[in-house]
Amino acid sequence: MQFKLNPKTLSESRLRVIPVLENDLEQTLESKLPGTAISTALFSGKKDTHFTLSHESQLILLLGLGKEPDYRQVENTFRRILTKHSSLVEKEIYLDFPDNLSDSLFEAALVGFQLGTYSIGFFKKEGPKSFKKLKVGVRISSSNPKNLALTAQRIADAKMEAFRLVDLPPNKITPPNLADWAKNLAKRLNLGVKVIDPKRAKSEGLEAFLAVGRGSAKEPKFIILEYRHPKAKFHLGLVGKGVTFDTGGLNIKTQGMHHMKSDMGGAAAVLATTQLIAELQLPIHLTTIVPAVENAIDKDAYLPSEVIGSHAGLSIEVVDTDAEGRLILADGLSYLVKNYKPDHLIDLATLTGSSIGTFGYESAALFSNDGGLSHGLQEAGEEIGEKSWPLPLWEVYAREMDSEIADIRNYHGKPFAGAITAAKFLQAFTHEHPSWAHLDIAGVSFTDTEFAKTKTGSAFGVNLLLKFIQKQL
Ligand code: BES
Ligand code: MN
Ligand code: ZN
Repeated sequence: MQFKLNPKTLSESRLRVIPVLENDLEQTLESKLPGTAISTALFSGKKDTHFTLSHESQLILLLGLGKEPDYRQVENTFRRILTKHSSLVEKEIYLDFPDNLSDSLFEAALVGFQLGTYSIGFFKKEGPKSFKKLKVGVRISSSNPKNLALTAQRIADAKMEAFRLVDLPPNKITPPNLADWAKNLAKRLNLGVKVIDPKRAKSEGLEAFLAVGRGSAKEPKFIILEYRHPKAKFHLGLVGKGVTFDTGGLNIKTQGMHHMKSDMGGAAAVLATTQLIAELQLPIHLTTIVPAVENAIDKDAYLPSEVIGSHAGLSIEVVDTDAEGRLILADGLSYLVKNYKPDHLIDLATLTGSSIGTFGYESAALFSNDGGLSHGLQEAGEEIGEKSWPLPLWEVYAREMDSEIADIRNYHGKPFAGAITAAKFLQAFTHEHPSWAHLDIAGVSFTDTEFAKTKTGSAFGVNLLLKFIQKQL
C-alpha cells in the first residue's frame, strides 16, 4: 500500500471515500459534492451507516461518523472499507477527509483503514488478498500530515503483527517461534536480545518457568528484548504471558481448550509494543520479557501438589497446573526487577476466567500499587478504546494464597476473587517494586468482532501502552 498525502490530482482514482460527521452533513456534501442532493432518509451521517453513489466518473462512498465519534468507532468504520466494501476498490482509492477532524481521529482512520488489509486466511490455497499495490490518496488537513500518516502506519503494522501472533495456530507459534520472532525484530531494529534456553534457565533459577514447560515437547524459551535510547526519560519494564497453548496440564481443561492458542495474547501485546516503540524511536529505555512455554501433558509434566522453586527464592505449592500463567510471570517479573531495575513495571496476561466473570469482554482488569501508573493506564486506554478498570490489591487476599507446605500456593481452591488472588500471587514476586501494574486481559485479547466469524486477536495493549508512554514524555 502506498500513501500519497494531499495529492494535486485525483482524477485517476475511481473510488472516493468521504467521511461525514452527522452535524456537518449539508456542509460536507456542498463542499465535496456540489450540486448533489441526497435525501436524509437515504443518508444522514449517523454512525455505522454508509451510502454509495456515482458522481461524474467517480464512485463515492459516504461513511457516517455520527455526532461525536470516538477513536475506536472511527478505526472500525475505516477498517470496513477494505473488508466490507472491497468490491468498490480497484487500483486506487482516495480518502477525502473533512477539515475539522482532530489529529487523533485522523490517526484512528488511517490505522483502521490499514487494518482492513488483515485477514486470517493464512493457510488457504489462494492465500489472503494482497493490497500491496493499492495506491491511497489522502486529503487531510493536519499540521504535520506526514508524521501522522507514518505513525498510523506503524501502529497498524504493530497491531497486525499482534493479531497474527495470536491468530496463528499453536503448531506455528511455539516458544521457539516466538524466540525467533524476537531475534528477527532485534536484528531489524538493532535491539538487544537474549533467549535463555532451559539449561541456562536452570542456572538462572527460573524454576517456576521451567516447571510449567516440563510437559511439552517444545522447548521453553525465556525471551528478553532491550531497547535503549540515548535521551531516555525513564526505564519501562514489560512482561507478557507467553503460553503458546494452555491444555491446563494434568488439571486438564475439561470444558474445552479450543481457544487456548490465544494464551500468549500478553506476549503478542508486549512484543508488538516493543516493535512500535523502537520504530518510533521514543526516548525511553524499554526491557521486555516473554516467558514462553506450552502447558502440555506427558510423563514429565508437573504434578498437582508439587512444590517448586522460583527465581525470587519463594517455594510454591502447585495446587492446580492450570494456574500456570502466574508461575511463569512470577519468574519474569522477578528476573526483570532484579536484573534491570526498571522505573515502572507492567505485565499483561490472559490470566483468569474470573476477570471475564467480572468485566465480560469489555474491559481488562487493572491492578497496581501506584496510583499514577494506574490512572495513566486507565486514561490512555479510555482515549483509544482499550478499556481497563481497577480492582483492589488488599492484603486479605494475599492470605488466601498462603500455603502450609511452602511459602505460597498458586491457587486458593475457592470459587471467588480469582483475578484478585492471582494478582496478589504475582505481587509476591515483584520484590516490592513501588510502581507495578498488572493487566488481566483474558476477556479482551481474543474476541468476537464484525471482521471475522471466529474469535480473533485484538492487539489489546499495543496502542494502550503506546499512548501511555507518549503521555509520560
Ligand atoms: N489461560 C487461562 C485463563 C483464560 C481463561 C484465558 C479463558 C482466556 C480465556 C489460565 O491459565 C487459567 O487456566 N486460569 C484458571 C485459573 C484457575 C485454575 C486458578 C481459571 O481462570 O480458571
Ligand atoms: Mn491455565
Ligand atoms: Zn493460561
